[in-house]
Amino acid sequence: MSKPFIFSTFMRKEFALYSREYATDQVSIVGEDRLNKTQGGVFLFLHFGSFFLSGVSLISKLGLKYTAIASTENFKIMNQEECKFWKEVHKISNQLYSKEMFLSSDAKTSEILEYLGQGNFLGSALDVAEIGKKHKFGSFTFLHSKIYLQTSPGRLARMAKVPLYGMTIVYNQKTNTHRLHITGPYDSKEVETAIQNILTDMEPLVRHNIDQLFHDVFHLFSLTQLKNHMIAPSPKKKIVSPLAPIKSLKSELPLNFSPRYESQVTSWHPHRDFAYNLIKEHKPKNIVELGVHYGDSYFTFCQACEELELNAMLYGVDHWKGDDQSGYYKEDVFEEVNLYNQEFHSENSTLLRMNFYEASQEFENSTIDLLHIDGSHDYESVQNDFESWLPKMSKGGKVLIHDILVKREDFGVKRFWEEISKAYETQSHLKGFGLGIVNC
Ligand SMILES: C[S@@+](CC[C@H](N)C(=O)[O-])C[C@H]1O[C@@H](n2cnc3c(N)ncnc32)[C@H](O)[C@@H]1O
Repeated sequence: MSKPFIFSTFMRKEFALYSREYATDQVSIVGEDRLNKTQGGVFLFLHFGSFFLSGVSLISKLGLKYTAIASTENFKIMNQEECKFWKEVHKISNQLYSKEMFLSSDAKTSEILEYLGQGNFLGSALDVAEIGKKHKFGSFTFLHSKIYLQTSPGRLARMAKVPLYGMTIVYNQKTNTHRLHITGPYDSKEVETAIQNILTDMEPLVRHNIDQLFHDVFHLFSLTQLKNHMIAPSPKKKIVSPLAPIKSLKSELPLNFSPRYESQVTSWHPHRDFAYNLIKEHKPKNIVELGVHYGDSYFTFCQACEELELNAMLYGVDHWKGDDQSGYYKEDVFEEVNLYNQEFHSENSTLLRMNFYEASQEFENSTIDLLHIDGSHDYESVQNDFESWLPKMSKGGKVLIHDILVKREDFGVKRFWEEISKAYETQSHLKGFGLGIVNC
């Protein structure tokens, strides 16, 4: 009995045969007329079919100048066999492409833009997520599934003012030939629309040759799988030995909460069970957080309200620029948080991208039942946040103040907390960096 044909095994072997002549002989191209050959552009593709042969064919059959962006980051987590395969792909690609590939780890954006500006073509896989690197992802529909793909190659095209094309290569076992389908051009000004169009073009080709998908994009590019890539690692906060407990809660809280969202900013993680129980007991209707950053505390509140079926409204306030203590960060933080919020909590959660003072003008007095203060941590900022928002609190409302145990020179929360503990009825959750609770 003959062995079953397994595309991925075939492709890995075929790969050793690649040359420009091989591409000329084995590949036919559909959609050449769509290309503006002098303008340059970015080809987006999936790891599907003999994907690497596509670029070689563009060079050998159409005379384009072409190279691709390569990722080396994931070598660190690949097994030996995978690593060997990809290193070989990179080696052969560098020999056959018009120029050595750009490495996503160290290529400068300006170099890529210069290359595109000279009327050259660049290939980039859509289904890549690099361990330890954050990407901006967009959500797309592909074969009835929602997948999250990075949009950076599309944004490169937008910056270079060149169009986006789709590129899908399909292997025909009967004729032992490949057909390369070029789609587009799509306007890179609307990156997400262009990517969705490209995916829609790819759908029938992939549907009928699903065994040629190199890996399971539906699983690997689901939100759950990508969570860690969407979140940037942040420098760990230094904490000098914690203070003696100020006041203790009477009992340990049950571990009954399983957070769906978490980033690598872990400072709020020790309080999540506590927050869940507090919300369960207190049943707040209006919740405001000052200082969302990646949303570890905020999405805990959102999830707790959802699971407890409280009809609460939640507002997350941040200018999403960062501050002296958390560090300053780029636009992608907001984009990632906003994407998650839209996807999972848009019904009752609103992100207010503004400074805390501006946001305070949006709320009537005595309307907030739970306020979490976790913005800048110097004494004046915490004092100012507390005092300016206090009138907004409802009778019996709770103000949470984070970092009451931190003894860092640039943190004034501990001192502020010690002072207000004398004037207000308070409790504290003395885990992690400490969470104070003021009963209004
Ligand atoms: C410590 S982080 C928040 C951490 C977050 N609660 C968590 O669970 O990881 C502080 C955030 O407050 C924001 N921030 C600081 N001062 C602000 C202000 N005056 N107005 C708006 N945002 C501010 C910063 O941009 C930063 O994202």
